[in-house]
Amino acid sequence: MALFITFEGGEGCGKSVQTRALYRKLKQLAIPVLITREPGGTRLGQKLRRWLKWTPNSGISSLTELLLFNAARSQLVNEVLKPNLDKGKTIICDRYADSTTAYQSYGRGLDREMVIAINNAATQGLEPDLTILLDIPPEEGLARKSSQRQDRFEQETVTFHRRVREGYLRLAEAEPQRWLVIDATKDKEEIAAIIWQRVGQLLSRAGD
Ligand code: TYD
Repeated sequence: MALFITFEGGEGCGKSVQTRALYRKLKQLAIPVLITREPGGTRLGQKLRRWLKWTPNSGISSLTELLLFNAARSQLVNEVLKPNLDKGKTIICDRYADSTTAYQSYGRGLDREMVIAINNAATQGLEPDLTILLDIPPEEGLARKSSQRQDRFEQETVTFHRRVREGYLRLAEAEPQRWLVIDATKDKEEIAAIIWQRVGQLLSRAGD
């Protein structure tokens, strides 16, 4: 059975390193796997990604932001996620609907029930088998990125990023069977080993 694995976390938590490490590991084992990300992963998603991250003084409201992330998601679910899961491919997705709950609801303050309802419309109920949270204090994560050009989200206040982190931790607490929370200040080999232990378990269970 194909697994749907998502990665979540605040800025500078090391998601891209860990998504790639897991992808390489699965490839080595000849497990059919696809890696994608949000926003992105489709032509529309790439365009929206550029807009959402890099348009300065865009005047974009929180509600518009919520809808644009979900427009990108809806396209990704139809075009990439569902067809590939149906073909038996395991999918690694860098961010998914939990990002929207953490950033647009806990971070921006949009009503939680509305955010979850719109997320559910976009995902059509497609839920991850496993969500890995790379948890990092915002000060530390933002410092890791401070030498690079900062996008709209990285320019937000530390208080905003603290709310996002708190949101993630609450989501994980509410659904412990789906989430694996890892201290992202550990070294990257250790983090990769923790992830592999859980994914290996899920794969062997799926093969039973
Ligand atoms: P990305 O490059 O994926 O961030 P990172 O390098 O931290 O992984 O950029 C995506 C940004 O968009 C990130 O700051 C989080 C934000 N985001 C939301 O606010 N809501 C969402 O639903 C998603 C998918 C991302």
